[in-house]
Amino acid sequence: MLAYIERTRDGLRLTREEIQDLVAGVVDGRWPDYQLAAWLMAAYLRGLGEQEVVDLTEAMAWTGSGNQENALGEVDKHSTGGVGDKTTLAVAPLVASLGIRVAKMSGRGLGHTGGTLDKLESIPGFRVTLTREEVRAQVERVGVAVVAQSAELAPADGRLYALRDVTGTVDSIPLIASSVMSKKLAAGAPCLVLDVKVGRGAFMATLERARELASLMIRIGEAHGRRVHALITSMDQPLGYAVGNAVEVNEAAACLRGQGPQDLRQEVVELATHMVALARKWELAYAHEQVEQALATGKAYETFLQWIQAQGGDAQAVENGLPLAPARLKVRAEREGWVASVDALTVGQVVLRLGAGRERLGDPVHHGVGVQLSVKVGDYVSSGGELATVYAQQEDQAQGAARLLRQAIVLADAPVTVAPPVLEALGSGGGRIEPLLG
Ligand code: URA
Repeated sequence: MLAYIERTRDGLRLTREEIQDLVAGVVDGRWPDYQLAAWLMAAYLRGLGEQEVVDLTEAMAWTGSGNQENALGEVDKHSTGGVGDKTTLAVAPLVASLGIRVAKMSGRGLGHTGGTLDKLESIPGFRVTLTREEVRAQVERVGVAVVAQSAELAPADGRLYALRDVTGTVDSIPLIASSVMSKKLAAGAPCLVLDVKVGRGAFMATLERARELASLMIRIGEAHGRRVHALITSMDQPLGYAVGNAVEVNEAAACLRGQGPQDLRQEVVELATHMVALARKWELAYAHEQVEQALATGKAYETFLQWIQAQGGDAQAVENGLPLAPARLKVRAEREGWVASVDALTVGQVVLRLGAGRERLGDPVHHGVGVQLSVKVGDYVSSGGELATVYAQQEDQAQGAARLLRQAIVLADAPVTVAPPVLEALGSGGGRIEPLLG
């Protein structure tokens, strides 16, 4: 391992066999955390060659028992991580409600971004660790399963992901691409839609880097015979109003009931449309119609509740609205104006520190803490008007969060223009797909 660390540190390339050995040691426990953390930092700082990324992705994908021959779902999706990004909670049952099987491996919170598994675990009883056989049976019965990595499914990423989360090695194109695509290859779905986030609260700060990451992941997927689309979506402000765990489950449920925020609904519909179009080889416009119908008829919401129940979760608790943390504080505007920005990075960090994610390996997650924003970019707010509500474990934590949120929400004297949530769609070979919906 020391030799691998030194070579990567010096910008030299590892062979396919060396990368396979490195990944095997991640899984069998030969390498201690401190050496893996050092290698991750070397890879973060020096980068990896494209062949190394491909080799790393494949080695990570095939360390479990998953493979393309026994795909668990027809279509998969994955986000590169954002703040308030609860799209999977709505998109997976929405697509499944159209009779398309969705078996998805998700992650936990990473850095300042939330994780789908942490959100799902805020539902009493919900189990994110299922055996491959349980996933298969559930997908056959209700059309959808969302699970964690396990000894069977891309276990190497489980360990590396948790280490990256606490070692400042998240926002790296090679490490994100291999992490995401190893899980996607292992789950085996023939079609995949990637949600590549860009902006203040994303791991890709610029459109150029987002395109680079999206194209690399599309190339890896296509090299393994997968049909892949990528949406590049804005993460300058949080998606929707809710940021946390339980609070996001509540918002995703509202979205499926037709009551969610506009930007969340648009992104959910676009992601689902691309998933359905790829899985069924339909035109985007036709897939869009089907998706809208599944939302309008309540079929998608019904599938959402069935999925929660199938995975051991208390669907009634979700219907009632999951409870939030007890120390609540309203954040109010100190002047009137139009909301010019809601800094997704700060909001994500605030929510992480409230306890919704982990700052060190093994930190406990508090499911009820979070922030419910009251405004989006472009809204007008009067002096003393409500900007957000903080849900914390303790009063002093709520006050600290409120102070930071007041700085994160910037008001302007004149109306501001609002960027759409979905910026671009990329298809085969990373080429642009036109036109976008909505
Ligand atoms: N999602 C993942 O699964 N891995 C990353 O590295 C980032 C987002």
